[in-house]
Amino acid sequence: MSLLKVFSDNNASDFQEFTEFDEIRQQLADAGIRFERWQAEKDLSNEATQDQIIEAYRESIDKLKKERGFITVDVVSIHPETPNHPEMRKKFLDEHTHSEDEVRFFVDGSGAFYIHKNQKVLQMICERNDLLSVPAGTKHWFDMGPKPFFKAIRLFNNPEGWVAKFTGDKLAQNYPRYQE
Ligand SMILES: [Fe+2]
Repeated sequence: MSLLKVFSDNNASDFQEFTEFDEIRQQLADAGIRFERWQAEKDLSNEATQDQIIEAYRESIDKLKKERGFITVDVVSIHPETPNHPEMRKKFLDEHTHSEDEVRFFVDGSGAFYIHKNQKVLQMICERNDLLSVPAGTKHWFDMGPKPFFKAIRLFNNPEGWVAKFTGDKLAQNYPRYQE
């Protein structure tokens, strides 16, 4: 189940939970984060290729590309047998920003985004059919968990520019990690 927890940014034990789509969308919108739900236009098997996955969401992808100027699209797939997943997980566990938007649509599985904005930390656990778009410059981190499983479509303005700039703030360590 998709779940949003809104914490104070100076007290990780003070939080509110939201599970209804409209409430989640509103809370995230207040922090400048876009949240949508997409439905597949075609049936997808677990073995679907990257091209078949993109094809199944073609209309939604094209709409967003046109609206936001995204140029490239790919699919990332991580599971517990993926080599080096602990290192991949570690890479984005501290607060950072990008000079590009970070856009993820969850085709399957789940993962947790944390957004630091307006003296709050918003932990959004995204699941299948959830789209989250973190604007360039927004402080955030991402946790795939110790036994990661997700397939996500990523949209980019410029894949070469998609590099994490760490803020040096260690507050991520004060908040609950995903699935731990
Ligand atoms: Fe990021």
